[in-house]
Amino acid sequence: MKLTTLEEHIIHAQNKFPGATGDLSQLLRDIALAAKIISREVNKAGITNILGLDGASNVHGESVKKLDLFANEQLQSALGRSNITCMVISEENEGVVRLSDESGKYIVYMDPLDGSSNIDISATIGSIFSIYIRPESKEPLREVDALQPGTKQVAAGYVLYGSSTVMAYTTGMGVQLFTLDPSIGEFILSEEDVRIPETGNIYSTDEGSYIYWDEALKKYVKYCQAFDTETNRPYKARYIGCMAADVHRTLLEGGIFMYPDSSKYPNGKLRLMYECNPLSYIIEQAGGVSTNGSSRIMEIQPKEIHECTPIYIGSKKNVEKLEEFFLA
Ligand code: AHG
Ligand code: MN
Ligand code: MN
Repeated sequence: MKLTTLEEHIIHAQNKFPGATGDLSQLLRDIALAAKIISREVNKAGITNILGLDGASNVHGESVKKLDLFANEQLQSALGRSNITCMVISEENEGVVRLSDESGKYIVYMDPLDGSSNIDISATIGSIFSIYIRPESKEPLREVDALQPGTKQVAAGYVLYGSSTVMAYTTGMGVQLFTLDPSIGEFILSEEDVRIPETGNIYSTDEGSYIYWDEALKKYVKYCQAFDTETNRPYKARYIGCMAADVHRTLLEGGIFMYPDSSKYPNGKLRLMYECNPLSYIIEQAGGVSTNGSSRIMEIQPKEIHECTPIYIGSKKNVEKLEEFFLA
C-alpha cells in the first residue's frame, strides 16, 4: 500500500487551488512540527520529571502543569517561524499574543494542552487549533479582529497524544486523519474524508454533575440508559475528560458528547474559540452536528476571546433526539 505523508497530502490539496499562496499549508506544517515535538515530550514526560504543577495558575485560575506551558511555547514558536500568523490566542495567555510580524494574514486560536488532568495518569491529552483570516483593515491589528464566529474558520483540527499520536484537520473539504509514525517522524494518512456515523450508542458527559443539571438533560440521560432494542439502548457511557479525545471517539464511533450549562457552570465550562468551534468544524465536516442547545455553535458571535459555551456535539440523530428533550 502506498503511504501518504501529511506534507504530501497538504501539497496535493493546495495544488487543487491554482491561486493558493501556500501560506495555509505552511501554517499546518508548522503546527504539525510543534505537535511532533510535543508528542516526543509527552512520551518521555514521566522520566524527565516534567510532570506536576509548576506552581502558577492560568488566566482562569486553574493550576497549570508544565506540559501545558511546554506545548504553548512549542506551538507559538512554530507559528513564529514563518511570518504568516499575526496573532495567537491561547488558553494559557490572558490577552492576545502578537507575533513579531503583525502583517501576517492568519489569526490562530489554540488550546495547547487539552485534558491536563490526564497528564499525571498517562491518559490521553491533546492540542486543538482553529485558524481565521485577519479581516482587511487599514487599522493596526486589534483584539476585536479575532472575534469572528466559527463559520469563518478556514482550518481547524486537533492532535491527540494517546496510544498513538493522531492528527485530524479540516480546511472545509472533509476531515483527514493522520497517525504519527515515531520511527520516521512523519504523520501518515490513515483515513481520508472521515464520516461520523449518523447515529451511535455512546453518551459522554460528566454524569457526576447530574445534580447541577436542568431537568431536560436529566431526562435525556435517563432516556440513554433506558432499555429499547430498536434503538440499541441502553447506550454505553464513556468519558475521558479530554474533550478532544472524547470528540475523536465520537467522530469514529458515533454518539454524543455533552458539556452542559448547569447551576455550577451557568455558561458551561468549555471554551468557544479554542475548544468548541474547532471541534464543531471537524464534526460538521464529517456530517455531524454541534449546538449550544438553541443554536449552532459555529454561528455564535463571540464577545470575548476566552468565553465559555455549553456544547452538545456528535452524530446527527443523537443530537436531534437531545434537542427534542430541550424543546419539550
Ligand atoms: P483543559 O485541560 O484544556 O483545561 O481542558 C479540560 C476540559 C476538557 O478537555 C474536558 O472535556 C473537560 O475540561 C473536563 O472537565 P470536567 O473535569 O469538569 O469533567
Ligand atoms: Mn481544554
Ligand atoms: Mn488546556
